[in-house]
Amino acid sequence: MTIPIPAEDPRHVPNRAVIDPSAITQNTRALTGLLEEHTALMAVVKADGYGHGMLTAARAALEGGATWLGVAHPASALALSRAGLDVNILTWLYEPHTAETVLPEVISSGINVSVGSSAMLELVSAAARQADRRARVHLKIDTGMGRNGVLPEQVREIGAAMREDDFIEIAAAWTHLTDADDPSDPSTDQEVARFDSACEALEEEVGPIPLQHLANSAALLTRPDLHRDLVRPGIALYGYPPVPTDVPLRPAMTLTSRLALVKEVPEGTTIGYGRIRTTDRRTRLGLVPIGYADGLHRVASDRCEVLVRTASADSRALQVGRISMDQIVIDLGPDSDACAGDEVFLFGDAEGAPTGPAATTADDWARAAGTIPYEILTSVAGRVSREVRA
Ligand SMILES: Cc1ncc(COP(=O)(O)O)c(C=O)c1O
Repeated sequence: MTIPIPAEDPRHVPNRAVIDPSAITQNTRALTGLLEEHTALMAVVKADGYGHGMLTAARAALEGGATWLGVAHPASALALSRAGLDVNILTWLYEPHTAETVLPEVISSGINVSVGSSAMLELVSAAARQADRRARVHLKIDTGMGRNGVLPEQVREIGAAMREDDFIEIAAAWTHLTDADDPSDPSTDQEVARFDSACEALEEEVGPIPLQHLANSAALLTRPDLHRDLVRPGIALYGYPPVPTDVPLRPAMTLTSRLALVKEVPEGTTIGYGRIRTTDRRTRLGLVPIGYADGLHRVASDRCEVLVRTASADSRALQVGRISMDQIVIDLGPDSDACAGDEVFLFGDAEGAPTGPAATTADDWARAAGTIPYEILTSVAGRVSREVRA
């Protein structure tokens, strides 16, 4: 009998991104604890919940006290709404094709839509007419990011257009800060000043703005004066504060694999493409079937440790040589008792660890790759199955 095995069936690959929803719930609770009673928390669950699974992250954050969910794509917002989550949702990134095909249902589902230009306002207005329902609009103000958003000097004109459109309801004004993760950078105060004067101008056109929001994780943690009506943390929910903090936050994703083989090699053995590593002693090498096609960053090659769980203990092992597409090699040391099948923690929380060393974090991988943990978490590939910890 032949057993059909699809090419990339995750059941037959040991790589897992294990998601701990209780970490997201506790992180959200810890963050809501920093807020005044009138400030709500929008859990940013875009990019598939920063790689953790959008619905898993959303449900966990709602349990922790979030009352809003934020996503870039309207289709993600619809998926949240269709999942029956009874919560305010905001979506902010679309172009004409998406606006035509998706926004009417988004608006008729009561999802809040961001507008960042006059052309976007026209798209939302047309979709609202098609849905025969007023669109709840958050006007995005570009205070220094130079991406999505109207320039402060355009606020009066777009405000007037919004006021005169029966299908538009002004629900909020908002902006996104460029440098909140560096509290010493004066640009945050400059951007806030631009936002505040744009909001004043907007209010002169449209009357009181129901909500103002601008704080990401960094501003939530360092600038209580910027919390306003709503804060929008993303990365901190997943356990990676972008600024030093005493708030207890723990990583929600653990990336694991298993040793495919272990072999003893002599001093002078070269490892991987380009032979960037040569052993300087007799040692035992472990082969782990996870590589850059699974989300490890090749540029981080030969620099990061992983945690290996053998029958006797947990221990750290350096990843050696270039990271390949599907595999890496780790140096287990000459006396390791590791054998094929043993679990390897690439980063995260090695649950059930005895009194051994802690696992590497996405921060460690980010430093080794010259990037940020956001990119490490969202790089974990679709072929790595997500397993939700009970
Ligand atoms: C518009 C917007 N708000 C909030 C966030 C959350 O930012 P952070 O993950 O730094 O908290 C993001 C993420 O980039 C975003 O794009």
